[in-house]
Amino acid sequence: MSDENLQKLFIAIDESLKEANFIKLTLSGRKVAEAELKNVYARVVTIKAGTRLSLVYRYATRDVTRNFTFSEGVEEIQKQLVYGFNQAILLTSNADIHFMVLSPTKSTLKTKAASQTLTPVFMHDKQKSRLINVQNNPYLTPLGISTAEGKIKKGSEDKFRQINKYIEEVSHIVEQAGFEGQFSIADMGSGKGYLTFALYDYLTHTCGFTPIVTGVELRKGLVDQCNDIVHKAGYANLKFIQGTIESADVPNIDILIALHACDTATDEAIFRGISQKARVIVTAPCCHKQIRQQMNAQEVLGEITKFGILKERQAEIVTDTIRALILEAYGYSTRVFEFISTEHTPKNVMIAAVRKREFTSVDGAKLTQIEALKSLFGIEFHYLEKLLKLTK
Ligand SMILES: C[S@@+](CC[C@H](N)C(=O)[O-])C[C@H]1O[C@@H](n2cnc3c(N)ncnc32)[C@H](O)[C@@H]1O
Repeated sequence: MSDENLQKLFIAIDESLKEANFIKLTLSGRKVAEAELKNVYARVVTIKAGTRLSLVYRYATRDVTRNFTFSEGVEEIQKQLVYGFNQAILLTSNADIHFMVLSPTKSTLKTKAASQTLTPVFMHDKQKSRLINVQNNPYLTPLGISTAEGKIKKGSEDKFRQINKYIEEVSHIVEQAGFEGQFSIADMGSGKGYLTFALYDYLTHTCGFTPIVTGVELRKGLVDQCNDIVHKAGYANLKFIQGTIESADVPNIDILIALHACDTATDEAIFRGISQKARVIVTAPCCHKQIRQQMNAQEVLGEITKFGILKERQAEIVTDTIRALILEAYGYSTRVFEFISTEHTPKNVMIAAVRKREFTSVDGAKLTQIEALKSLFGIEFHYLEKLLKLTK
């Protein structure tokens, strides 16, 4: 296809690099739906060898980064677009340009006012593996993570690393679950909003999705602070509301997130996700008191739980195993993994669950496994079972 729109896009990419107003480029919409490579993201970085176009190839399970000179990079983008992708979003500080293939003979090219008017950042090698841009970032400074000059504050490095890792994991999950365009995300117990802001910004401005994101938080002071930042950043589809995980007014939830929600608040969140048939439920549990208090293992297992610290760790493992089994019983493909090394935070286990489309009824075999586990540890009930009315 000799596509005039495509040629215009290539010219725009070329010019934006020459004029140093290139911000980023996202390729999406594979021509072959089941292809392993899902997206390509391009941005400008400065490394020892000089200024380069850095392409992140996002595969189903990993990211691969390759740095190119501008001319090689443009060539690579052209190749990827012609043979592999149907859609490209180019952000420059002058305009947003959206190219889309409609059919083998038809395409569109739409130019809108720039959604980001920041001067492009030429990042250093040290920063290049971070997904979140620190310079001219509208939320990191008011949240106390970065200085007004765009540097991560001393003492906030771990937090920043944790936010980046979280964004990497959650954006993978969102893409693997096949979301496109608009969908709704509820972040339960959003606290100061670090992760909520970062996720909204990344999915919207880097991945080109249109998520509607709601942070739900008990404490009014935090809600007001976050909404103030939202207002100043001009984030149209992000809001924070005061309320509880159990009853806050969020009618449609495609993705439910609850990070470090204390003790049984994680269960309230999973319960809400299951009840509202959320397609994705992501939790990073915090403390695990409910099961620890009940745990009364006998015989050999009693040797483990007689030591306080080991009982605590065992309680964490049993609590999260039962959560994972319940999610599986309710038709969710579930993974439990460490999302960041323990050297940065001890609260590093993530439970990520994606609802299977073919799910029809609760899997009784999983419930039997839960009963066996509870009996082994002398546990009467798990709070999530209570919420789901699986026990009396
Ligand atoms: C440890 S903080 C985590 C904040 C944020 N998710 C993070 O990971 O950075 C937990 C937050 O959840 C809020 N919270 C606890 N229980 C809640 C509930 N039932 N409904 C809404 N918010 C809750 C607390 O006020 C607190 O701000």
